[in-house]
Amino acid sequence: MSKPIYVLSGPNLNLLGAREPEIYGHQTLEDVQRLCEARASALGCSIVFRQSNHEGELIDWIQEARTEGSALVINPAGYGHTSVAILDALKAVGVPVVECHLSNPASREAFRHQTYVSLAATGTVSGFGAASYELAIEAAAGLVGEASK
Ligand code: DQA
Repeated sequence: MSKPIYVLSGPNLNLLGAREPEIYGHQTLEDVQRLCEARASALGCSIVFRQSNHEGELIDWIQEARTEGSALVINPAGYGHTSVAILDALKAVGVPVVECHLSNPASREAFRHQTYVSLAATGTVSGFGAASYELAIEAAAGLVGEASK
């Protein structure tokens, strides 16, 4: 069995469903986790799904994915726009990185138009709500498959 795809979510995403539902939708993070697990199992892979409000904890998990994961899907939330430390961790991770966002940051306030994470990601899926996570897992699984050819 190959290593799991790490699916990490950053700050405030524990409040999904209650937080600005007009932007982020009505599904909770648990709902998103269930969708991700179903999509991963349909693709024949497994996931590790975690959320933290703390930058250092996210960095610890990115470093864990270096040795324990096959790829990394990350919704960095607000840290995407601010954290050089998360970018540095992603640059060292050595497995494919796919960035994902529920909303489409490019169509929102100017300060959301750039993310540091994009500099380390193969690609980004944004704007599709919970489906952004599923599509990102599909992309990550494809990158793992490519890498093993
Ligand atoms: C987000 C977009 C970010 O700009 C924002 O800070 C978030 C969530 C998204 O999933 O759409 O917290 O990453």
